[in-house]
Amino acid sequence: MDKRTTTETPRQLTRRELLISTAGIAALQTAAAAATAGATAATAAPATPAAAPTGPFTLPPLPYGDNALDPVISANTLGFHHGKHHRAYVDNLNKAVAGTPYADMALDKIIAATYGVADKSAVYNNAAQHWNHSFYWRSLRPQGGGEPPAALRQKLETSFGSVDACRKELLTAATAQFGSGWAWLVQDGGRLAVVKTGNADSPLSKGQRPLLTIDVWEHAYYLDYQNRRADYVTAVIGKALNWGFAADNLGSA
Ligand SMILES: [Fe+2]
Repeated sequence: MDKRTTTETPRQLTRRELLISTAGIAALQTAAAAATAGATAATAAPATPAAAPTGPFTLPPLPYGDNALDPVISANTLGFHHGKHHRAYVDNLNKAVAGTPYADMALDKIIAATYGVADKSAVYNNAAQHWNHSFYWRSLRPQGGGEPPAALRQKLETSFGSVDACRKELLTAATAQFGSGWAWLVQDGGRLAVVKTGNADSPLSKGQRPLLTIDVWEHAYYLDYQNRRADYVTAVIGKALNWGFAADNLGSA
């Protein structure tokens, strides 16, 4: 095991614990546990220095196998999306924060500190995309979709009129987002709402609490659906959305 890896594991968990205070609570607790399990497994594996972490941030493992969401999202798409795109955000973030005070800050603090700051766009974009993707993986699950847990369903019915009306708003937001971005279910005060954001932005910057998200960057679906974003989003909402994750993220407000 590479020395850097063994000394980094506690640091990674601390960052995740800090993130938990803002949003994605259950997801990031699970991700931390998975990361610990992964580190344990890696200890028994042959050392691979070329793949060792080189910065304060690390790519979280997927909470399921590459083929677990097939046919909604293929193993090919998931492999590229997580292993190439998300990894690139993490690698570029590590390069961007090297030698700066951001290297010692929690991810959510970096996002808040660099949002809208023109000369920090590289830090912001990669930090936000790292956060968004970590949240997106947990927003999906194998054999997902279906009906939300009772507590969440009640809030959805209060805010949207019905769960199906919420599904339709998610589809509309995801397809109406021009270019790259995200569709989100959020908690805004005492109500739930659907919002969309462009590029790397998230509802965190507006003080809203993310409950789940759908990535609508082309890299999320193009290999499987080409330009048919609506088909991807419809399949995700119906067959892969993790309503339990959203319910776990509900705040007391
Ligand atoms: Fe993505």
